[in-house]
Formats: sequence, structure tokens, C-alpha cells
Amino acid sequence: MSRQSQNQIRAVISGTGADLPEKVLTNSDLEQMVDTESDWIVQRTGIAERRIAEQDTSTSDLAANAARRALKSAQIDPLDIELIVVCTATPDMSFPSTACVVQMKIGAKNAHAFDLSAACSGFVYGLDLADGMIKSGRYKTILVIGAETFSRIVNWTDRSTCILFGDGAGAAIVQASTEDRGIIASYCGADGAYADTELLAVPAGGSTLPVTAENVKKQLHKITMKGREVFKLGVRIMPEAALHTLQMAGLTVEDIDLVIPHQANLRIIEAVGERIGVPSEKLYINVDRYGNTSAATVIIALDEALRSKRVNSGDLVLLVTFGAGLTWGASIIRM
Ligand code: UT7
Repeated sequence: MSRQSQNQIRAVISGTGADLPEKVLTNSDLEQMVDTESDWIVQRTGIAERRIAEQDTSTSDLAANAARRALKSAQIDPLDIELIVVCTATPDMSFPSTACVVQMKIGAKNAHAFDLSAACSGFVYGLDLADGMIKSGRYKTILVIGAETFSRIVNWTDRSTCILFGDGAGAAIVQASTEDRGIIASYCGADGAYADTELLAVPAGGSTLPVTAENVKKQLHKITMKGREVFKLGVRIMPEAALHTLQMAGLTVEDIDLVIPHQANLRIIEAVGERIGVPSEKLYINVDRYGNTSAATVIIALDEALRSKRVNSGDLVLLVTFGAGLTWGASIIRM
């Protein structure tokens, strides 16, 4: 595809940041909590450890810390932010939105703010939204955050799910620019046929099953998942989304410098890499250290890749994700 014409508005990621809680929960720690073995977890998921937020740390705390670092790396003032989108499945509370709490915590008084619910696909959905809003000409500076405290919704007696998840947040400042970089192609999809199947859900706590003593006793306010089915869907959907987005951009996988897939399971990541034809050195992996941080995985990974210079200015990055809903999405960005 030809490079952009001059003066075309692009949505550029001008700064990123992340925040991971200090507390580490290892596989050996989990051996003390449920009937599992460290080797099993490593072989089936690739996860060695994950981070867990302290009890007095909320999703908005992680989100605000990540946002402050992103502001610093973009070298902008919080008052320049016009919109805050917090992508999360673990908000501080049902309402007010976590985004409003973040607005207060970082002093972004000129921004309006809302949460976006797309489970693990959240950040890619948020980026897609920011891309559209910036290209419309209405916004110049948007803060998109993926932030989660899944430790709060994990059933710590269910060995098939509690081993998978961790807490963390990542943030990106997305700004209008006429430079020849930024979001080149972005694509999101959903299939609500999977929404009420308990394939991957927190069934209670909303209008369908309000919080009652009985629902809590049945652990319905915690994650329930049919792991094997989710696995198969991820391995099918992420390559489709990635290839579709490459096609939209008029690029091939060889053009991409780094692929950052949703970090849910190493076997899923490797299968995605194989199916889209990416050599392992171009596949970003940090699931071993953080587990699945849902909406935060891809932006935590992008922030790490930028800071470690695995990704440099001008490089092409492909983010691809899937999650409950079902939802999925991919984004190609020239950094
Ligand atoms: O963001 C998206 C969110 N979720 C995902 O991406 C998760 C996708 N799915 C997965 O990652 C995998 O399905 C799991 C890691 C959850 C499970 O791995 P699996 O290879 O699909 O195992 P399985 O569910 O088919 O279970 C195999 C066996 C079962 O025992 P039996 O029935 O064969 O006797 C499980 O009970 O492994 C057992 N098992 C465990 N054993 C030791 C399940 N969890 C554990 C465990 N430790 N933690």
C-alpha cells in the first residue's frame, strides 16, 4: 500500500507506560493453594509466575500509575488529555466508571472519561476507538488504558482457572499527527452467540444474576471458563484477525517487525505464530512472567518492547487479541 499522503491525520502512539504489582505469585505458591504442579502449569500454559495487587490497590491505581508513565514518555501534561478510555473487565465498581476515578487521580480535568468492556480484547477495541475519534478531527489527545485486577474475580479454589491470571495495567497516549506513522489498520469483531454460554464469563454481579448470598456461595461472582473450547477459539480467531488486518493494510506478515498476541497461554501464542507464519523471534512473549492480564496484556507487552528497544521508531507492530464475548481485534501500528 502506498504511504500516506501529506496532511492526512494519523493516530500516533506518542507514549506508553505500564504498572505491574510488586507481589509475585509463583507456580510453587499455587501448589500450596490448589491440587496442581508447577511443571503441569509450565507445560500447559507457559506461565511461571504472575503479579497480584495488594488488597488496598484497585484497578484505577494500576491504571493511574501506567497513565502517569505514559504521560511522562509522551512528554505531555495531564491537562492536554481530552478523553480517557479505561478498557477493563475488573472495574473499581459497577459505576462510577474507573475512567472517572483515573481522571481524578492523574489530574486530567479537561478529559471526559468512560470504561470500555470487551474483556481481553479491550485494549485493541480502545485503540480502534481512539483511531476513529482522532481521524474524525474532533480529538487530538486520547489516553487509552488496559487495566485489570483479575485476582479479585478468580476462584482461588478452581485449579483450571486460578493458575492463568494476573494483575497489571498498561497505557498509551494516542495523538493526532500528520507524520507518516501511527495506526495503519485496525479491525475489531464480536460474536455474541457465545455470550451466555458460560464459555468464559463472570455470571453473577450484573442484572441477570445479582449479587446474593446464594450466588456468592456458588462462586458465581467469579470466573467460569471452558478452557479447552476457549483455547480452540483463540487459535482459530487470532490468526484470522491478524491476516484480515494485514490484508486491510496491504501488508504481508514479512513486513511486520514484532507480533504481540494476547498473552493467555504460550501454546496459543505459538500456534498463532505458526498459523500466520511468524518466526519465533518476531513473536513477543511475557506470559511466563505475568500470566494473562486480560485487557492489559498487549499494552504491557508493547510498553516493555519499546523500553527494551525490541521495538524502535519506524518499526511495524501487529497487536492481535481475543476474549470473552466473544470479542477479537487486531491493530497494525508504525511506531
Ligand atoms: O483470555 C482468554 C482466557 N482464557 C484462555 O485463553 C484459556 C485457554 N485455555 C487454556 O489455556 C487451557 O485449556 C488450560 C490451561 C486452561 C487447560 O489446559 P488443557 O490442556 O486444555 O487441559 P484440560 O482442561 O483439557 O485438562 C486436562 C487435565 C484434566 O484432568 P483429567 O480430566 O484429564 O483427569 C484437568 O482436570 O488437566 C487437569 N487440570 C490440571 N491439572 C493440574 C486442569 N487444571 C489443572 C492444574 N493442575 N492447574
